Amino acid sequence: GIGRNWPWASGGSSILAEFGTLHLEFIHLSHLSGNPIFAEKVMNIRTVLNNLEKPQGLYPNYLNPSSGQWGQYHVSVGGLGDSFYEYLLKAWLMSDKTDLEAKKMYFDAVQAIETHLIRKSSRGLTYIAEWKGGLLEHKMGHLTCFAGGMFALGADEAPADLTQHYLQLGAEIARTCHESYNRTFVKLGPEAFRFDGGVEAIATRQNEKYYILRPEVVETYMYMWRLTHDPKYRKWAWEAVEALENHCRVNGGYSGLRDVYLKHDSYDDVQQSFFLAETIKYLYLIFSDDDLLPLEHWIFNTEAHLLPVLYPNKKEVEVNEK
Ligand SMILES: *[C@@H]1O[C@H](CO)[C@@H](O)[C@H](O)[C@H]1NC(C)=O
Repeated sequence: GIGRNWPWASGGSSILAEFGTLHLEFIHLSHLSGNPIFAEKVMNIRTVLNNLEKPQGLYPNYLNPSSGQWGQYHVSVGGLGDSFYEYLLKAWLMSDKTDLEAKKMYFDAVQAIETHLIRKSSRGLTYIAEWKGGLLEHKMGHLTCFAGGMFALGADEAPADLTQHYLQLGAEIARTCHESYNRTFVKLGPEAFRFDGGVEAIATRQNEKYYILRPEVVETYMYMWRLTHDPKYRKWAWEAVEALENHCRVNGGYSGLRDVYLKHDSYDDVQQSFFLAETIKYLYLIFSDDDLLPLEHWIFNTEAHLLPVLYPNKKEVEVNEK
C-alpha cells in the first residue's frame, strides 16, 4: 500500500510513460469486470494531466506525485514519454471515438510536438528531437520511431483537414528511420541517431550503437503499410527480416547486437521478450492480408498485445476475426 519512486527519476518524480500508459488496460479491465473503479483511477490521472499548465503545450517526462508539479523540463517522444502520447490516441480509438477528451489532448500534444520538437535536416530528413528546458538535442531514439505509425494511425479524423499532413508526417518519420537502418553495416538501426556534427541518422556515440531487437521501426512500417499500401513498406520490412536472419539469428534464437556498424558479430546474447511480442508480430502482419486483425477492430497496446475496440454506443457488434 505504499508507493515510492526511484531517486534517479528526477528527484522522486513519476514518469510520464509509466503513469500515462495504464489507460487501455484499465478501461478494458472495467469493461470485462463490470467494475468501474479501474476506469475511474486512470481517468483521474488524465484529469490531473489535462488541468496542469504545460510549458509551450508540451508534457515533461517527469511529474512529482507529492507536489503535483512537473520535474525536469525534459520532453521526449522516445523513452520516458513515448507511450503516453500513444495511449491518448489509442484511448480515443479504443472507445469507438467517443473519448473526445483523449482526442483533443492527443492532437494538442502532437501540435506542440510538431512546433517545438520536429525538425528537418539539411538533406531533407524529418526527425523528432528531444527538448531540454527549451533547448533541442538533435538526437532521435529508436524508440521514437514508433511515432511515424502513430501519426498515420491518428490521421484519419485529424482536426482542421490535417489528414494528409499527418499521413505525410508518418511517411517522413518512417523514411528517416529506414535511413538509420540503411546507413549501418547490418541494416538494422542503432539505439539512437543524431543530426548534428555533420551527420544525419547515424549513431556517433559508442553507447548508442546497439540494436536489441527493438520493434518500433517495423511497427511504423506496419501502420504505414496498412494505411497506404505503398509497396516500399513491405520492401523495407523484408530488408529487416533478412538482416535479422543474417545478423541476429543464433542457435538458441535471436540475439541483439552491440554495434550495428561493425562488420563482425557483436552479439549481446539476449533475446528480449518484445522481439516475439512485437517485432516478429508486426513483421508477420506486414506480410498478411488486412483482414487479419483489422485496425478498425483491434488496438495494439504498447507491447503489441491485442485489445478489442469497445463499442459503447452500439447494442452488439459482431467482431468475428480469424
Ligand atoms: C541504402 O544503402 C545503399 C548502400 O548501402 C544505397 O545504395 C541505397 O541507395 C540506400 N537506400 C536508400 C533508400 O537510401
